Amino acid sequence: MKGIINKGIQELVETKFGVEAWLKIKELANCEEPFFAASENYPDEMTIALVKAAAEVSGLSPEEVQVEFGKYWVPNTGRKAYPTFFQIAGTTPREFLINMNRVHDIATRTAVGAAPPKFSYEELPDGKLIMRYHSKRKLCSVLRGLIMGVGILYQKELEVVEKCCMFQGADYCEMEISFDA
Ligand code: HEM
Repeated sequence: MKGIINKGIQELVETKFGVEAWLKIKELANCEEPFFAASENYPDEMTIALVKAAAEVSGLSPEEVQVEFGKYWVPNTGRKAYPTFFQIAGTTPREFLINMNRVHDIATRTAVGAAPPKFSYEELPDGKLIMRYHSKRKLCSVLRGLIMGVGILYQKELEVVEKCCMFQGADYCEMEISFDA
């Protein structure tokens, strides 16, 4: 996974729990990287170990850490790292979410070994948006947090309901998003 993800975990932990907590988490995760280069590829196992250690140190569950990461990453780490994408990705949370295949394709085009997530969409007559998530990494808790993070970016509280999940044997995770919650 690209370093910008691990960097987001570090920024989240340092902001919410302090630098000491981050050093402890790195130690628990056996991570010896002095810093994360945003566009460098790091093993997925490192990201998983950091999330697990962050859960141990913070007292949150690994799923809660993933949700908090997503909520933090979009309006903070992501926005700082990719200002151009944030300018062009949309004027509403719905537009922004619908543009995510294009954004991920462009953001990882030149990155050897990157494996961006794939999304498919359905717009329901009542205004809700179905966002289906396809990825071997099964990071649907991260996805939930990132969707909420898009809401935070636009100062809107979005409702996110997971209708089916890869952890229950589905081929993809399906999030139903309401924009007028
Ligand atoms: C402009 C905003 C964004 C940029 C530039 C961006 C870029 C990236 C990059 C570079 C990765 C690492 C991919 C890899 O190393 O293989 C990633 C991972 C991911 N992104 Fe984004 N992202 C953005 C916003 C979002 C949003 C809003 C969502 C969902 C609503 C999302 C969903 C994900 C997920 C779930 C992953 C984890 C990888 C996986 O599941 O396979 N991203 N993103």
